[in-house]
Amino acid sequence: MEKSTYSTLVIDSSELAQYAGSPYRVPTVFAKTGEEGKAALLDSNRKFAAIFINPVLTKPGFLQTIALAHKHRPGVPLFVLYDQKDPLSVQEMTRLAIAKAIKKPLTDEIIQKNISEEVFNYHPNQEGIEATQTEDAEFVPIATADLLGGVPSFFDIYVRLPSGRHVKILDARDTLSPQRTLTYLEKGVPHFYLKKEAQKRCLTYCTILSHSLISNPDISYEIKYSESLNQGEALIDTIRKQGLQEESFDSIFEFLSNIHILTRKLNVSQEQAVQVFLANAHAYDHAVSTTIVAALLTSPLKIESTRAFETVGIASFLHDIALYQLLPHLQTHDESKMTEEEKNQYRNHPIASAEMVSQFQNVDTTTRQAIAQHHERRNNKGFPGKIPPSEINRVAEIVGLSDEFVRILENSKRVPGMNSLQEMERNIFDGFSFPVIEAFRSIFMKP
Ligand SMILES: [Fe+2]
Ligand SMILES: [Fe+2]
Repeated sequence: MEKSTYSTLVIDSSELAQYAGSPYRVPTVFAKTGEEGKAALLDSNRKFAAIFINPVLTKPGFLQTIALAHKHRPGVPLFVLYDQKDPLSVQEMTRLAIAKAIKKPLTDEIIQKNISEEVFNYHPNQEGIEATQTEDAEFVPIATADLLGGVPSFFDIYVRLPSGRHVKILDARDTLSPQRTLTYLEKGVPHFYLKKEAQKRCLTYCTILSHSLISNPDISYEIKYSESLNQGEALIDTIRKQGLQEESFDSIFEFLSNIHILTRKLNVSQEQAVQVFLANAHAYDHAVSTTIVAALLTSPLKIESTRAFETVGIASFLHDIALYQLLPHLQTHDESKMTEEEKNQYRNHPIASAEMVSQFQNVDTTTRQAIAQHHERRNNKGFPGKIPPSEINRVAEIVGLSDEFVRILENSKRVPGMNSLQEMERNIFDGFSFPVIEAFRSIFMKP
């Protein structure tokens, strides 16, 4: 049998194995990473009848991938996949022009229910299907056969008359039946058209959403998590400019993209404290940045077991969780603006955070201790000052040093000419043990 030209594209970086058991009759291209997804979307030799995306994705992340799909595959129906809960509200799906959310596993049956088989049976062999497209300021061409799947279109669809005028043949939200599409193909209409403006609106919305994602109640915790890991890339760029070697990043992204699995294990997404934390963009950004720096420090400190990795990841991600229950000015770390009573509250946030975290499932003692001690310093200048310097746990030092570095990087954006590494040498190293300082130097201060 002749191979079908159209296939589906499934971009899913998690638990892909569940697809392996059931061979697909519908031809399908699987992308196991954001990168593979991007490559497939940009590959002009492939034709996709539909694109299925699991939004828990990094490098590029979900919103970037959606934007790539709208840009390079305009008019091809998009679907999102999810494990447990609908990842997006209906309103957000409409704005992003996503046809439907589908609960995994994705099966042949589901694909066939949503996409007419005509598209898979279609073989664009003859009659100039790749006919030259006229550049147009207002319209973007799409292959007519892309619509054979019979999925409702998010866009108004036009045809171009020989005079060069465009005539609308379908209103957004309506479906062009595969039969009608076939008729157009038989008549030798190789392209339909969308308004460029409509395409641009989608792309712009992807950008807007990526900036307001954390505080958006219509977006699932999983998407927020994986998208903020992508935003961690900005921090990595900053660090890279400090001269960090490229190879240090190799394992970091994998580590980061696994953290959402770890936090899921803790079963924390329903906890009120976690909700408050997730709704606070700065808090979230700080947590992710601290986690990235801490993860970088694990390698020179020879922290290699999965368990130890998880401890560092969870402790650095949740270290300040109770801080965000306090009044906003107590979250700034500026004690000069606090009353005595407020200062006590602020200085208690490591203990309060540890207590909060100890109520989550599967949190071990080291993680709890590390959070409780993340502001303790070996020069006795830390707080709450509950333990002698020699007893500060190693993970607490990693979280503490990472936290300080991230705060200095944040400040350096506001203070022109500030040298973050000099600042670390001058004011921070003093409070930490030699191996941890050496680890930091080996990563961030290579000659
Ligand atoms: Fe803190
Ligand atoms: Fe912090």
